[in-house]
Amino acid sequence: MSFDVVDLLREIEDIGRDPIRGGWSRHVFDPAERALLAWFVARAESLGLDVETDRNGNVWAWWGARCPGTVAVGSHLDSVPGGGAYDGPLGVVSALSAVARLQAEGFVPAVPVTIAVFAEEEGSRYGVACLGSKLMGGSIDPERVAALTDGGGRTFADAAAAHGLDPAGLGRDDARIADLAAFVELHVEQGRGLIELGHPVAVASAILAHGRYRLTFSGEGNHAGTTRMADRHDPVVAFAETALAASRIAGEGDDHVHAARATVGRVVPVPGGSNVIASRVDAWLDVRADDDAAAYALRERIVAAAHGAARAQGCTLEVVEESYGPQVVFDAAVQRRLLDILGDVPVLATGAGHDAGVLGDVLPTAMLFVRNPTGVSHAPSEGASDDDCRAGVDALTAVLRDLAGGVG
Ligand code: GLV
Ligand code: MN
Ligand code: MN
Repeated sequence: MSFDVVDLLREIEDIGRDPIRGGWSRHVFDPAERALLAWFVARAESLGLDVETDRNGNVWAWWGARCPGTVAVGSHLDSVPGGGAYDGPLGVVSALSAVARLQAEGFVPAVPVTIAVFAEEEGSRYGVACLGSKLMGGSIDPERVAALTDGGGRTFADAAAAHGLDPAGLGRDDARIADLAAFVELHVEQGRGLIELGHPVAVASAILAHGRYRLTFSGEGNHAGTTRMADRHDPVVAFAETALAASRIAGEGDDHVHAARATVGRVVPVPGGSNVIASRVDAWLDVRADDDAAAYALRERIVAAAHGAARAQGCTLEVVEESYGPQVVFDAAVQRRLLDILGDVPVLATGAGHDAGVLGDVLPTAMLFVRNPTGVSHAPSEGASDDDCRAGVDALTAVLRDLAGGVG
């Protein structure tokens, strides 16, 4: 059985392919994500690892019995709708590959090593990113999570219970956190940083502050043919003005020094008929910037523009914050240690959110990025060459060998 990272990626390439959108759709608790998780469990068990699911739905594969000092590696297996093949799975299969290599070399870790697979990292089903790590770290209210609903109205509690989780057990897991000495997440790079630097692997330095907001524009549903233009209260128009304003406002602040990003990637007009003036539009605004103050200021400007656009149409607007992740600066000591182990690798910031960023509040965390030749992510054309995937595993193996500090 091969644990070469390229062979592992090939084994899972048909799980969760999305025939309509292209790419892969693997959402928490859906059949594709469960199939991928089952594959992971089987592969981990074939390495002799003990697999368990924690009370927040995160899955852990243990090399050695859990105790203080444990080194964790891993990532997530869920995806955005129609996403790429590497965002999440690359970190998980690289962890399997690194453990297999250390075992084959006869390495005996001095502390337990665990491979973590975090639940609902993308927030594609329940709207909140990094749910599993936020629950575990205590940065989100478990009752709020239990009540979150997916597009079909099914609660997280209900879907979780159907997969053997007790909704009453959701929430901060201090005992588990206390046993973890560090978490290292390898991830495909999601921009062009490593292409420009000409390196296959980097160590992460920071993550942009990131807010997600649901904007609900309410107007008056009416007939597309009989309603004079002057008589309309059309929430689609208010939304469209808002999307343009968001793009313009963020664009003014996004340059080579500062990051200011605003995206509306999901819009649902209600009722959604081609000859119907909508009565309501739900739109999801994703805002990112260098730090919390900049993200707040960017959101305020866009929301003010949205209120203005709604007023101009005689519509109302409600804004709900679905999640907020503050700016992350990775632990300097762990970052230094990774650089000492890996030598000449660049240090790179990212605009993408990660479980390692969330967990950085409760334990030392670090990240490795693997070059993405397209620079595209959250889309089917996301990539990583075979050589770079193997370079990523080389780096992760070296890090694990050092952090787990054993013999062999
Ligand atoms: C997750 O990948 C995000 O940054 O939205
Ligand atoms: Mn992602
Ligand atoms: Mn990811």
